[in-house]
Amino acid sequence: MSKTREIHLVRRPNGILALADFSVAEANVPATGDGEVKVQTLIMSVDPYMRTRLNADQALNAPLLGGGIGRVVESRNPKFQEGQLVRQGVGFREVHVTDGKALSPLVRDPALPLSVYMHALGGTGITAYGGLLEIGKLKDGEQVVVSTAGGAVGSVVAQIAKIKGCHVVGLTGTDEKAAWLRDVARLDAVINYKTQNLPDALKAAAPKGIDVYFENVGGAQLDAALPLMNVHGRVPVCGMISTYNGGGEGVRNLFNMIYKRVRMEGFVATDFAHLNAAFVSDMTGWLKAGKIKYEETVLNGFERAPEALIGLFEGKNTGKMLIHVAD
Ligand SMILES: NC(=O)c1ccc[n+]([C@@H]2O[C@H](COP(=O)([O-])OP(=O)(O)OC[C@H]3O[C@@H](n4cnc5c(N)ncnc54)[C@H](OP(=O)(O)O)[C@@H]3O)[C@@H](O)[C@H]2O)c1
Repeated sequence: MSKTREIHLVRRPNGILALADFSVAEANVPATGDGEVKVQTLIMSVDPYMRTRLNADQALNAPLLGGGIGRVVESRNPKFQEGQLVRQGVGFREVHVTDGKALSPLVRDPALPLSVYMHALGGTGITAYGGLLEIGKLKDGEQVVVSTAGGAVGSVVAQIAKIKGCHVVGLTGTDEKAAWLRDVARLDAVINYKTQNLPDALKAAAPKGIDVYFENVGGAQLDAALPLMNVHGRVPVCGMISTYNGGGEGVRNLFNMIYKRVRMEGFVATDFAHLNAAFVSDMTGWLKAGKIKYEETVLNGFERAPEALIGLFEGKNTGKMLIHVAD
């Protein structure tokens, strides 16, 4: 029996994550039985939601819940062929044997790199697309503010809004991400919330107010956006990463929703399955036409997944945080 590796949570985190909360554990790879496939993981997706599972839902000493792309290396299941690429939701495991229920065939456009199926053409991309267009009800030419604009979801939201002719302001935490958003993604204004006075800078950057504030952070950023919302403004609530480690700042400005008739609405990516065909068609076209640009922060090596997850909460990624496991 051959050996493989898994990323485990070994203790419940206390606030900010530590490397010692995780281990790289050795595991056996069983023989591939009838109806089963053996899959080699190629790329793993590292996502903020994973942190929210660690306090209770994630089992200790078991593979960390997470998704990625793999290649079928052995198949005794007629639905899968050897060499086939699959999206997998099987936890952070280098090689695994499965009945295939958590796998879906990946249909790839040969003109695009495989990794884009982990972000712009993957879960974060459809989150951005559905969150902005369906929940945010974006209209052409509106005034838009996007938090974590230099990240996987935010960078796509901001650029879709630009494609729709909107005035787009991005919020981010480093000057490097701010430069990318200004110079490459062509946003109208960018604010480094760590070095600038956010309420003042946002007021100056959004002189016509805000029709859509795309919420990824919560706390102080939501508080800065609320007083600037226009009548019938929308706040699609995608995430609140400032709260995931516990703590975070309270929100005091919600009363602005009343007279401005602001609508806030949460959603999850799986709500947008009905948009998938339109999303894939639009996003493939935008990527090929260079209308959506992207960055990736790729750590090489399966064992670096804990470092990558911790890095998300330190703002270490520009664009999508990924682990490269194998070619
Ligand atoms: N609803 C859904 O289905 C769904 C799906 C995917 C993602 N999301 C949510 O969308 C948001 C972005 O996810 P993503 O995958 O695109 O991650 P990401 O933006 O690529 O990476 C996380 C970024 O968040 C920022 N950040 C970290 N801690 C922060 C804090 N305390 N305060 C403010 N900013 C902080 C950092 O950027 P800076 O350097 O700019 O601070 C970091 O790079 C998250 O809230 C996530 O939970 C929701």
